[in-house]
Amino acid sequence: PKLIEALPDPFKMVEKELQPFSDSIKELVSTDQPILSMAAKHFFEKRHGKRFRPTIVQLVAKAVAAATPDTGVPSGNVQWSGASTLAEPVTPENHQGSDVWRRQAQLGQIVEMIHVASLIHDDVLDEADTRRGGEAVHKLYSNKVAVLAGDYLLARASVLLARLENTAVVQIMATALESLVAGEIMQLKSPPETLLEMETYLRKSYYKTASLICYACRSTALLGGHVYDSAAATACEEFGFHLGLAYQIQDDILDFTAAASVLGKPALADMDLGLSTAPILYAAQETPSLRALVMRRFKKKGDKQAALEALYKSVTAMDKARALARFHAQVSFDFTFGT
Ligand code: FPP
Ligand code: MG
Ligand code: MG
Repeated sequence: PKLIEALPDPFKMVEKELQPFSDSIKELVSTDQPILSMAAKHFFEKRHGKRFRPTIVQLVAKAVAAATPDTGVPSGNVQWSGASTLAEPVTPENHQGSDVWRRQAQLGQIVEMIHVASLIHDDVLDEADTRRGGEAVHKLYSNKVAVLAGDYLLARASVLLARLENTAVVQIMATALESLVAGEIMQLKSPPETLLEMETYLRKSYYKTASLICYACRSTALLGGHVYDSAAATACEEFGFHLGLAYQIQDDILDFTAAASVLGKPALADMDLGLSTAPILYAAQETPSLRALVMRRFKKKGDKQAALEALYKSVTAMDKARALARFHAQVSFDFTFGT
């Protein structure tokens, strides 16, 4: 298989398609409640972030336009067959500007709205004061307004989702919402003895981050005319699964290695929240004394400092975490070449 390094800049590849993106989202989240409008629009104006998820949706939309749909009657529940009967099959030539493309672009907006809603709520839960290089919504307004602004964005996203008129896609994206909440509660309430397990960490990472990405990818395939259990739809989901895991593992590494000014949000924040991510879990495998600290979520005075020292002393922990992120990135990339 080709290496990730061989990839052209994915953001550049769909730059044109995403250009009108922020302006149209701003319109979509307008309401006659001024505070709600301002809070909801905050992250679609100056602080719009990388637009990672809409970019992935656009790229997957291009990829599935080039894939031949599975023929034959879809098995199982008809409801899950999605948009299997397009008036005209999509090809790379007629894709851009088509109805299919418009729906996929709307899905990209919906996914970004869900993501931003989850960030606004996340910063309340994590008591994080900064996001995307500025003040978090709950700091600009209040916790109450932040909760309602997140709820409002979710409500708007639901309306737009229904407008796609594809019940399979509605079902998949509603399941993604369920997963986000499952991930957060798992992070909050996992029993101490499971906190040392790599499997618990990866499952949580799937729920809180990879699920939204992989369900968005499968939905993009369905909107492109591929049936629910087609090879193309499944490959899209697996691509998103591994990409999402790589993304979260890298985010967890950056919590230790990057400055808050670069991240645009607090650094070294995970241990303050009692969370052990890949680097610490690998360090704990080497340093038995670290395990008790992980299990009590760094609650005792001096725990965080001791854990950091153990991590920095370890020769391999950070490299192992990087290798894990790279592994998932490479696996996701391999799906784009059908290997
Ligand atoms: C950021 O993670 C947060 C998430 C990936 C998901 C947050 C989900 C919820 C709050 C559940 C509610 C969901 C909805 C749709 C309203 P992080 O805190 O590890 O990362 P950070 O460093 O960016 O804060
Ligand atoms: Mg969080
Ligand atoms: Mg957070």
